[in-house]
Amino acid sequence: MRVVSGIQPTGKPHLGNYLGAIVNYVKLQDEAHAAGGQCFIFLADLHAISMPHDPAELSRNTREMVATLVACGVDPSKTVLFNQAQVPAHAELQWLLNGTARMGWLNRMTQWKDKAGKNREGQSVALFTYPVLQAADVLLYQATHVPVGDDQKQHLELARDIAQKFNNDFCREDAPLFTLPEPYIPPAAARIMSLRDGSAKMSKSDPSDLSRISLTDDADTIMKKIKKAKTDPEPLPSEEKGLEGRAEALNLVGIYGALSGQTVAQVLADHGGNGFGAFKPSLGELLVETLAPINARFMELKDDQEALDAILARGAAQAREQGLPTLDAAYDALGLVRR
Ligand code: TYM
Repeated sequence: MRVVSGIQPTGKPHLGNYLGAIVNYVKLQDEAHAAGGQCFIFLADLHAISMPHDPAELSRNTREMVATLVACGVDPSKTVLFNQAQVPAHAELQWLLNGTARMGWLNRMTQWKDKAGKNREGQSVALFTYPVLQAADVLLYQATHVPVGDDQKQHLELARDIAQKFNNDFCREDAPLFTLPEPYIPPAAARIMSLRDGSAKMSKSDPSDLSRISLTDDADTIMKKIKKAKTDPEPLPSEEKGLEGRAEALNLVGIYGALSGQTVAQVLADHGGNGFGAFKPSLGELLVETLAPINARFMELKDDQEALDAILARGAAQAREQGLPTLDAAYDALGLVRR
């Protein structure tokens, strides 16, 4: 069992990142540790330069993201926790895989289409080739399980296509180089939506801070954001069918369920018939209860730059060593002479 996943250190991590991915980093880290497997979680700082960015902010966010992940339960004694920029093998393997990835495959990526919009010509080359770097990230460590939210599913399918084509083109049939990675997507919290618009995903880049709960929001801010969350005037239904066409209501019920470990049906069995005036305070309290310990731990860790840098340096040293055999084998398979 080899668990690999990444998160971009851009902006503050939010409830979507937490429920969609980070909760499963911790779950799979513990499962891998118990089973004698391995877990690699990294900050995708190389991915972050595909969009305009402020260098000072990127360094600050990178350290803050380490503090957040540790506060959430990612344990550097069980997980190789690092940032891509300290492990050149990610960028190297990306270049090797660029020979295998096809333009048509990248052109079909919905995240590329969404982010580029009508201005494709004006985007960085990195934004277009971003999914190839993501493929390198997971293939380098022979990932079996990749915990992600639903929005990364297509990128993972691409990673599998690249792995398969490379194996077919350059490896003997009985000795494929790359393991095909499986996405590990939480059924209930695969896509947490914006608190202001039930049709848009909760995201770090939404200009409205009210659209998301940041993992470092304090109790008052959380209660305020939940109170202001967009809803409709109807009370909650008693059955799931009644949430059809009510995206905002479904999102809040889904968040409640993911936090309390209940299905949507169970949440509705308890809260059906209640209006949002009653449901929102319960949801707010549940959020505060979940996030308060994370927040407290984050506050303890965030200013200790030396400790955070030491975690990254140690993780990077382990990652460099672990990725080497696959990188070497990829060079060899391609016939590149290096010695
Ligand atoms: P990023 O930084 O956008 O998000 C990190 C993780 O959070 C999940 N996520 C969500 N899940 C549910 N609801 C949401 N609203 C929501 N928003 C974000 C994402 O699916 C992701 O799992 N390209 C990746 C980073 C990356 C990566 C990788 C991931 C780089 N290389 C290799 C896995 C494997 C990204 O930008 O995630």
